[in-house]
This record gives sequence, structure tokens and C-alpha cells, in this order.
Amino acid sequence: MSLTEVRHDSEVPGREALETATADLEAPFAVVDLDAFDRNAADLLRRAGGTPIRLASKSVRCRALIERALRAGLQGILAFTLPEALWLAEHGHDDLVVAYPTADRSALRALAAGPHERVTIMVDCAEHLDLAVAAVREAGGGPIRVCLDVDAGWWPLRGRVRIGARRSPVRTPEQAAALARAVLARGELHLDGLMSYEAHIAGVGDRPPGRPLMGAAIRAMQRASARELAGRRAAVVAAVREVAPLRFVNGGGTGSVERTAAEAAVTEVAAGSGLYGPTLFDAYGAFRPQPAALFALPVVRRPDGRTATLLGGGYPASGAAGADRLPAPHLPPGLKLDGQEGAGEVQTPLRGPGAAGLRVGDRVWMRHAKAGELCERFDRLHLISAGAVVDTVPTYRGEGECFL
Ligand SMILES: Cc1ncc(COP(=O)(O)O)c(C=O)c1O
Repeated sequence: MSLTEVRHDSEVPGREALETATADLEAPFAVVDLDAFDRNAADLLRRAGGTPIRLASKSVRCRALIERALRAGLQGILAFTLPEALWLAEHGHDDLVVAYPTADRSALRALAAGPHERVTIMVDCAEHLDLAVAAVREAGGGPIRVCLDVDAGWWPLRGRVRIGARRSPVRTPEQAAALARAVLARGELHLDGLMSYEAHIAGVGDRPPGRPLMGAAIRAMQRASARELAGRRAAVVAAVREVAPLRFVNGGGTGSVERTAAEAAVTEVAAGSGLYGPTLFDAYGAFRPQPAALFALPVVRRPDGRTATLLGGGYPASGAAGADRLPAPHLPPGLKLDGQEGAGEVQTPLRGPGAAGLRVGDRVWMRHAKAGELCERFDRLHLISAGAVVDTVPTYRGEGECFL
């Protein structure tokens, strides 16, 4: 039977400290270690070297922690849907950029008639512009601020190989300038910024555990892609700035903060996952966020002497399905998911040397593979600092909000 790998990090509070802090809670529950969260925020800011960091809210999904990150020095929010951005605007936030295009006509009308000076939408084609124009004509108000999304993928071998997320069709300086002119031609719109997100660098760890050859290949790909992107991004930005001024040029993510921030054409980077420190970000060589977000599951049965079975736990992360998308046992050490059952809907059996000492009623501390998706499973986060729960705050889900 194959077992997925153990991941363990000795920097976070030990099991005893977590158990003491949360002794009054019934598992399952989720916590965020504020001390680790704050250190992670400081490390992101250090890595950015003075370039502002816009907070990717999808990777936090909890208003109290979004506000904490902004107090720590991140600036502005990269939202993930327009209804989310409108909701955050209602709660007093501004400088909201929606990172993905929208076809939500009623939200666009609400934007046009409402906080159109505080929210910027993402566009990469004429249809996006037409939807926003129609909303302004129907609802009044506006203009709606738009940000041009430019593809950051790497296309070696004359485009026969295409590496990167399938995002914007806009790739060249000429295409970007043409879209900028199309925005300017519509009085209902205002050209606000430009974004190009290099998912294959910012979100793909360059030291995958146990796979040195794959790691070497990823590092070579990322180096070559970053070189190509830096030149193309500068040319794209220059071409668009000849058409109209840009308030911001956004790029990057947790995995590429220092590299993207070093580009002169980029005025801000985005990041969010580095605050919670999920397992996918263990696979980077140059930095190591501390695991700040954890969830505790109760041991509910012992099918045999080598197995401890937890209640629930089937919270896989999005993306191409694979073992790296599964949650990982964190504490006590020496636990592995079962290769046949994985993390299950109603139960998660754990094997490994750590399992023998577990009793029914004990808890196992787990980590999610991605950051904000954990908050779709829990309606509150218990915030721990200096060995005690200091607050309990709702996630988006806990506020009754489900944006995706
Ligand atoms: C447009 C965009 N920018 C930045 C990020 C980086 O976010 P994180 O730092 O949470 O990985 C993402 C993540 O998917 C994204 O889609």
C-alpha cells in the first residue's frame, strides 16, 4: 500500500502548546497562529523590498485577517469575484482589484451605480468591455475602472510548447495597446491598471520533495520564463503607457515576490498564500512560510494497532488532482495518509509510527495544501497568540458568504 509523504515543520508551536491553547474546543476546528501569520506578513514585505504588496483575498477569506494583513503593511486587495469586492467595499475597503473577469451583469450594474471609484475589474477582450459598458448605460453612474490582464505564460520552441495558466489572450505589446485603445474609446470605462500573473513561477514550488530532477527542470523553466517575461512585460507596459497612464502594474504571487518586485515595470506584487503557509509552499527553496493555518480533527476509531482514524478531513485543494493537493498530517509527527483512502469525506485513516500512540478522543493537527480554501470548510477561525486563543473570528463562510 502506498502512503503519501509526511510533512513536518519544527518552527511552529509544538503539539503541547496547541493542545493547551485549545483545550476547551471540540474538534473539528480551525486555528490561525497569529504570531506565525505576522512573521509571514513581515517576511513577504521583506522579500518585496519596498514594492507594495496587494493582498490576494482568495488566499485568506476571513475579513479579520485581511484587515490584520493590511495593518501589517500590505496595500490594497486583489479580490476574486466582483460580488466579493462589492461586499468588501460595503465593509469600508477600497482599492479593490478583481483579479478574474466577470460576466455577472447585476454585479456590474451595482458597481456602476455604486462604488465604481473603489473597485477595478479585470478585462482581456471586447466582450468584457461590452458587458461593463452595458452596465453603465443601464444603471447609470460609472465610469467603471478596468485593468488589462496580460498573459504571462512561457511559449518556447516558437510557441509549440505553452507553459502557464490559460488566462488572457492578450500577450504582445501591440495586443495590449489595442485593448487599451478600445477601453479609451468607451466613455463608460476608465483604464486603471495592468496585471500579468505568472502562475507557473509564483505557484509552482521549485524544490518538490523527493523529486530532485523535477525540481531542477522547474528551476530551469522558471529562470527562462522569468527572463522572457521581464522583457515582454516591460515592452507591454511601455506600449500601454503610450496610450494612457496606468495607476498600477501588478504581477507575481507568494512564490515569486522578490523576482517580480525586481522588475522596474512592475509597481506592485500580489500575495496571500504566504500568510497562512499551506503545504504547497513548502516546496520552494528560497523561502519558507511558517504553517499558520491548521485544523484539528478528532481520532474517532482505531481499526487496528497501526491505524488511527480521524473524523472527516476530506478537504482537497483545487488544481490538477494529485497527492500534493491533499491535506497533510502535521502533529504529532510520524503520521501519513493511507494511500487507498486518502483524506475522506467522513473519515481519514492515518498510518505511520505516530499512529500507535493515538487514542480515541485525541486530536491530530492537519495542514491544508492551499490557503484560503480551508475557510470554505470552517465557519470560524480561532486565533492563537502566545499560547492562548485570543479571539474567534468568522470566515467568509461564517458570514454566510460563498463567492466561489
Ligand atoms: C491573479 C493572481 N495574482 C496573484 C496570485 C497569488 O496569490 P498567492 O500569493 O495566494 O499564491 C494569484 C493566485 O492564484 C492570482 O490568481
